[in-house]
Amino acid sequence: MDGQVAHALPRIREKLIADHRRLDGLLERVLGAIAADERETIADAFTEFDCRLRTHLEAEECHLIPALLRSDPRAARAILAEHAHIRARLLELATAIDLHTIRLSAASAFASELRAHASHEDNFLYRWADEHLGEAEQRSLFADMVDGVISRVRSGAHNPTVTRLGQAGSRAQPRARQRGPA
Ligand SMILES: [Fe+2]
Ligand SMILES: [Fe+2]
Repeated sequence: MDGQVAHALPRIREKLIADHRRLDGLLERVLGAIAADERETIADAFTEFDCRLRTHLEAEECHLIPALLRSDPRAARAILAEHAHIRARLLELATAIDLHTIRLSAASAFASELRAHASHEDNFLYRWADEHLGEAEQRSLFADMVDGVISRVRSGAHNPTVTRLGQAGSRAQPRARQRGPA
């Protein structure tokens, strides 16, 4: 029974690559709205993108990075540094959107950075995770990717302005979570 359930689970790489694609689609929507100067759509699209990207980063930091830190600390720290950079860029973009000073060139540059980060994870981190993480860790990861979005929406923390005030500087390192493997 357990074996059948485990076999039915998607691989981590498959699931997280799909999430990268979803995030890229949301970011494309933001870029399109910026190009068309549709302020309301820019704000709405960026809020959803910000919410889902932060949830994605936290799920990786909670469920993948701690194990990678034990196995390959240098690679893990490099990914954490990129996450810190991504969060800093999200704050810059959110501020520029609030102030209506957002430029397509700045958002496009961020999109390139994010795609490079995603490509590295597709080809390294997720392959490594599929080889090293067990079924329980996999289930926790997938559950947090859904629960994180739901809890952000319910708490109002999906608002990038609230996120900025409440979380600036506090997400650069993996944080202890009440559930899920260490
Ligand atoms: Fe990442
Ligand atoms: Fe990722």
